[in-house]
Amino acid sequence: METKFWELKKNPEAAIDEAAGLIRAGEIVAFPTETVYGLGADGLNGTAVTKIFAAKGRPADNPLILHIADTEQILPLTTGLNANARALMETFWPGPLTIVVPRSEIVPDAVSAGLDTVAVRMPSHPVAAALIRAAGCPIAAPSANVSGKPSPTNAQDVAEDMTGKIAGILDGGSCGIGVESTVVDTTSPVPTILRPGGITREMLEERLGAVEIDPALNGNPALRPKAPGMKYRHYAPQAPMYLYEGPQAGQRLLEAAIRGQKQGLCIGVLCDDAVKKRLEESLWRGHTLEILSWGSGKPDLAEHLFELLRSFDRVSPQLIIGMGVDEKGLGLAVMNRLRKAAGYQILLAEEDRITVRSGSGFPEFLLTADR
Ligand code: TXA
Ligand code: MG
Repeated sequence: METKFWELKKNPEAAIDEAAGLIRAGEIVAFPTETVYGLGADGLNGTAVTKIFAAKGRPADNPLILHIADTEQILPLTTGLNANARALMETFWPGPLTIVVPRSEIVPDAVSAGLDTVAVRMPSHPVAAALIRAAGCPIAAPSANVSGKPSPTNAQDVAEDMTGKIAGILDGGSCGIGVESTVVDTTSPVPTILRPGGITREMLEERLGAVEIDPALNGNPALRPKAPGMKYRHYAPQAPMYLYEGPQAGQRLLEAAIRGQKQGLCIGVLCDDAVKKRLEESLWRGHTLEILSWGSGKPDLAEHLFELLRSFDRVSPQLIIGMGVDEKGLGLAVMNRLRKAAGYQILLAEEDRITVRSGSGFPEFLLTADR
């Protein structure tokens, strides 16, 4: 299949109209949102929705989010909204929040994967909103990556995964937030975060009072996550990845990278600007480290995380070591992605020692704290 690529700088309306026409005709088009790129189909057309699963290689038991452009568009999709759902819509829409609500009969089985609920989100990105309005239907859209790879945050990363598999890609530049929307189940007695994202736990608590977090998000393999998609290994680069967490994460990562370099290993390092700068100052020239930095602060980390994880696959290091941040604010969402990317191979770097938080088979040079 030929995949059209629309640059939106010139004549965006014509491109969006053409893309909307393809969606109405049952085809799939990738489009930008404020979180990540989505792979969109007419959300009320079960046959069209099935094509999304084929393009992504996505398991059929993983339901999709329906994207809308106006609040009232949710009404036909659900049998009813409770006070929590309404409060969340009023406060956080349009924006990076998905709510899970009781599903109505018009929602195809393919969208909700047989569940009696449906996930709905109103994105704030102008191109996403314009596309939904022009298509005249809710747009079912997962992230526009091949299943298992990091979500794409720019049109080139979408093209890498989807060229030849879908009808077109709308290039709206880079996504500002960079991690997927927060998914909140409003049907449980206490609203529950099923996936942390751009709207933080603190923001939700301020609006709703008590909010729970799905216990399976801590990475306990014995627990089954309530959002089917959260059970899959995700975001993982091809090389094995190890993560340092805790107050001394940056320092221990720096020391380990230098030890690894001395052993002649080709190591990928994921860290912030400050650690990258210190690391570069301590290294011999011609070093075999591939140091990728996200900038400084959690918003920078969220914005660049997926594109950095994808970059490691282009340079093929033998292993990757990354540095975690605390879980306040956006930290919860980025740490959820980072831990998955590392396959839960996690070391805790405290003041005077390194301990295994989860995982096994760590290379020895990661485990020693320099004096
Ligand atoms: O930011 C986003 O949400 C992006 C952009 C494109 O909008 N979309 C996205 O979709 O991340 P996807 O399909 O990659 O992730 C949707 C998540 C999955 O973990 C899925 O299992 C969960 O939402 N989900 C969807 N419907 C659900 C439902 N009825 N109950 C529980 N979880 C649901
Ligand atoms: Mg996804």
